[in-house]
Amino acid sequence: MLLNILNEGDEILDFVGPLGVASHFDGVKNVAVIGGGLGTAIAYPQAKKLNKLGASVDMITGFRNKDLVIIEDMCKSVCDNLYVMTDDGSNGNKGFVTQKLEELINSGKNYDLVIAIGPLVMMKAVSQLTKKYGIKTIVSMNPVMIDGTGMCGGCRITVGGETKFACVDGPDFDGHLVDFDSAILRSKMFKDTENQGREKHSCRMEGFENGR
Ligand code: FES
Repeated sequence: MLLNILNEGDEILDFVGPLGVASHFDGVKNVAVIGGGLGTAIAYPQAKKLNKLGASVDMITGFRNKDLVIIEDMCKSVCDNLYVMTDDGSNGNKGFVTQKLEELINSGKNYDLVIAIGPLVMMKAVSQLTKKYGIKTIVSMNPVMIDGTGMCGGCRITVGGETKFACVDGPDFDGHLVDFDSAILRSKMFKDTENQGREKHSCRMEGFENGR
């Protein structure tokens, strides 16, 4: 919220990054990059990189309705085919990203990699689908992070029965090994604190706006 009130040219004091492990796409030939909601903004650079490496890239993006669709032209410019899905069909393409992905697989698309970035439930659904077809799948985990350096444990997730920290070990993980159910539970743990924080910040920002 604080970042959101900054204007172009404004400054922040410190910035640390990049953190975590960089994505590696060597040898990938046919890939489906899936973005759910705002996750599309993170899927875009992945598609761009793969496109630059010469891979054949299909992008599938999903939004609740057409008013929430973002960066459509940018995505189009970095992939071979873009499929924009909406839950309510308001853009003429009704359905979830998983429906389109399964349709493409069944039509003979031979993906050697699927990348899914978006809400946990979406990444879980994509991983379940690709497991059925035996397609390697990378998901991007973004649990609540506090220090971003592996010390607080806030971003803890379970992958293949082991505890991992998304900030230093991720954000990319094998979607077939991630314990999504525990990640979904953990993501709800902080809701009350988040709501309290949001309320506190709203009051502060009202204060700023009123010159107090
Ligand atoms: S954010 Fe603290 S350990 Fe990852």
